Amino acid sequence: MSSLFFSLLSILFLSLPLLSLSSDSDVLLKKIKPALQGNTTIANTQLSTWNLSTPLCQWRGLQWATATGAALSCDSASTRSNLSLNSDTSIQLTSIQLPASGLQGYIPSEIGDFSYLQSIYLAVNSLHGSIPLELGNSPSLLRIDLGSNSFNGSLPPSIWNLCDQLVSVRFHGNRLSGSLPNPAGANQTCDSLKILDFGENKLEGGFPLFITKFSGLQELDLSANRFTGSVPEALAEMKSLQKLNISSNNFTGMLPAEFANSKFGADSFEGNSASLCGSPLDKCGSGSGSGLSPGLIAGIVIGLMAGGVVLASVLIGLFQRKKNKNKGIEVEELEIEDGEQNGEGKLLVFQGGEHLTLEEVLNATGQVMEKSSYGTVYKAKLSDGGNIALRLLREGSCKDPEECIPLVREFAHARHENLVPLRAFYQGMRGEKLLICDYFPHKSLFDILHESTTGRTLLNWPKRHKIALGVARGLSHLHTGHDTPIIHGDVRSKHVLIDELFIPKLTDYGIGQLMISAVADELLSASSADGYKAPELNKMKRCNARTDIYSFGILLLELLMGKKPGDAKNGGFDLPALVKVAVLEETTMEIFDPEILKGIRNPTEDGLVQALKLAMGCCAPVAPVRPDMAEVVRQLEDNRPRNRSNLYSPADIRSGAATPY
Ligand SMILES: *[C@@H]1O[C@H](CO)[C@@H](O)[C@H](O)[C@H]1NC(C)=O
Ligand SMILES: *[C@@H]1O[C@H](CO)[C@@H](O)[C@H](O)[C@H]1NC(C)=O
Ligand SMILES: *[C@@H]1O[C@H](CO)[C@@H](O)[C@H](O)[C@H]1NC(C)=O
Ligand SMILES: *[C@@H]1O[C@H](CO)[C@@H](O)[C@H](O)[C@H]1NC(C)=O
Ligand SMILES: *[C@@H]1O[C@H](CO)[C@@H](O)[C@H](O)[C@H]1NC(C)=O
Ligand SMILES: *[C@@H]1O[C@H](CO)[C@@H](O)[C@H](O)[C@H]1NC(C)=O
Ligand SMILES: *[C@@H]1O[C@H](CO)[C@@H](O)[C@H](O)[C@H]1NC(C)=O
Repeated sequence: MSSLFFSLLSILFLSLPLLSLSSDSDVLLKKIKPALQGNTTIANTQLSTWNLSTPLCQWRGLQWATATGAALSCDSASTRSNLSLNSDTSIQLTSIQLPASGLQGYIPSEIGDFSYLQSIYLAVNSLHGSIPLELGNSPSLLRIDLGSNSFNGSLPPSIWNLCDQLVSVRFHGNRLSGSLPNPAGANQTCDSLKILDFGENKLEGGFPLFITKFSGLQELDLSANRFTGSVPEALAEMKSLQKLNISSNNFTGMLPAEFANSKFGADSFEGNSASLCGSPLDKCGSGSGSGLSPGLIAGIVIGLMAGGVVLASVLIGLFQRKKNKNKGIEVEELEIEDGEQNGEGKLLVFQGGEHLTLEEVLNATGQVMEKSSYGTVYKAKLSDGGNIALRLLREGSCKDPEECIPLVREFAHARHENLVPLRAFYQGMRGEKLLICDYFPHKSLFDILHESTTGRTLLNWPKRHKIALGVARGLSHLHTGHDTPIIHGDVRSKHVLIDELFIPKLTDYGIGQLMISAVADELLSASSADGYKAPELNKMKRCNARTDIYSFGILLLELLMGKKPGDAKNGGFDLPALVKVAVLEETTMEIFDPEILKGIRNPTEDGLVQALKLAMGCCAPVAPVRPDMAEVVRQLEDNRPRNRSNLYSPADIRSGAATPY
């Protein structure tokens, strides 16, 4: 509310002197009235009161403000009959309310000319034509209801110019078509927006993901349109949502698991493609009976033996290695070998991996991206041209299938903006295991931070803060977003991918949990050499949420200090020890990476000092003292850098986003 007050005040002081050209009443009479009236011979009874022989206060369906911004009170007889108000240019229109008034025309572009106009209620009329993009020029507009008319065309992207102030937007029951335009800024949150109703139109395209960023949204209606594709996890995570209706579209796939226990019933989702499944709708993959435990809704098992398909006994065979010297990359082809006949190889497919088939995965051409103690990561090209990332767990490294598969299903539940999603899992009959994930062409945080080349991306504090917060959110989701917490087990900068908008994505979560203990120990000692290992892991071997938080603390120090953690012989530093020394010697400011101090006037007001304290809290030697990830997220959110404008520089705007108006 305070931001609203501010914008009204600034309009009052800044724009009044400019407004002497034509009064609002003039624009109403000359432009708005004829347009709304339309081509009917019978004069509209409401609109006909808008005339110069009727005092302004008696014009139907309008509200006004005086020069001070206060509402014009039409209660007193003298004001009510004051004809001079009609030509008083300081009187401003604040509201147009003519619902169910038999209007037959259209909305003209001059609707954007009213500086004070806060609400437009023109529902249940016969208005047609397109929504003028000038609507987005109305500097004070908060509430729009144009429901139950015949507006067509697409929604102008300029509507999101009003993102920061809009409270409710209703276009229910029109003929709007095309896809919903994205806001110009990649990540607008439209904080005041409570109601968004586009139900019963002809809108199409995938689920408009940007809506899930609208953090205060209470009511969302996209029902009875032509939306397609899957329902994103982020929708289920919208905390403030009270009412949801996405019924009668063409959504497919599995509903996010969170909807199983939400306040939304089947009537929020019904009437979509028959393949939309998962609680509160019907269970997914019912009918095959391939030994799925009923409580798990993680995935659709493609029972390869079902129906006598002979695809079944395909195996990953030998890896033939060819070095491609010219490109300096090692190319390995995944070669397929027909197995004997006891083919147990099977592919578990999870949300978003429905397009994958065993044949296609195993026929993919792979290029080695990374080798690690648990196996090899490939970039694999599918026959349709798409890429996936394959993590081949080395032989013998994984536990028994009985233990392994339920865990993998748990990991597949994890869907979050800051997590690389697991799309499928392959288990071959010799025990080979492939984790199949989305492929991201991006660099890891480690590369970005420690790369020494001259052309490297500069990371200022707002960017680093954004990365830290994203990693914290992803980790918090792993720890608390599921019935059983998922322990990452290997949080490190090499396992954080950074996209061009500096949104981080965590990879490799849970892999330690899949390993037999000998390999798990190896993974742990590697993380120890790299400085991420919590001290208590020297005694007990099992990772837990608190050991993840320790690793996160090290990663946060790495971000703040720009130094590699770990053994000195690998060029690393004991980061917590450096901080302690600096604090004792009162040289704290010197430990920050000089690159992040650029443009920072006051490290406390910009959240730098708080972030350092937080990192040290996470690295506390005594595990119970460490904050949990939810607390870490809260503290990072509460202590943001003040100047975040450069996060939205043109280079940061996703290509394909709507052009700003
Ligand atoms: C309204 O009628 C006028 C002439 O009577 C015509 O030129 C105009 O195109 C019509 N507009 C609409 C929206 O039907
Ligand atoms: C002006 O408005 C009054 C009602 O306030 C109405 O009786 C009159 O017919 C209107 N005049 C015109 C020209 O529409
Ligand atoms: C009528 O309105 C005019 C213009 O706003 C104002 O100057 C005048 O004092 C008003 N008269 C009455 C009787 O309220
Ligand atoms: C909108 O409807 C009008 C008729 O009312 C039609 O002439 C026009 O082509 C339509 N526009 C779009 C974009 O569908
Ligand atoms: C978008 O919002 C998310 C969640 O609020 C945040 O983590 C991320 O940093 C934001 N991205 C941009 C481009 O600001
Ligand atoms: C829903 O989508 C499928 C393909 O994705 C298509 O075949 C079908 O016609 C669509 N149904 C409707 C009602 O649009
Ligand atoms: C959802 O929308 C459809 C069509 O717009 C409507 O018939 C239905 O009653 C709505 N359901 C809920 C739960 O609001």
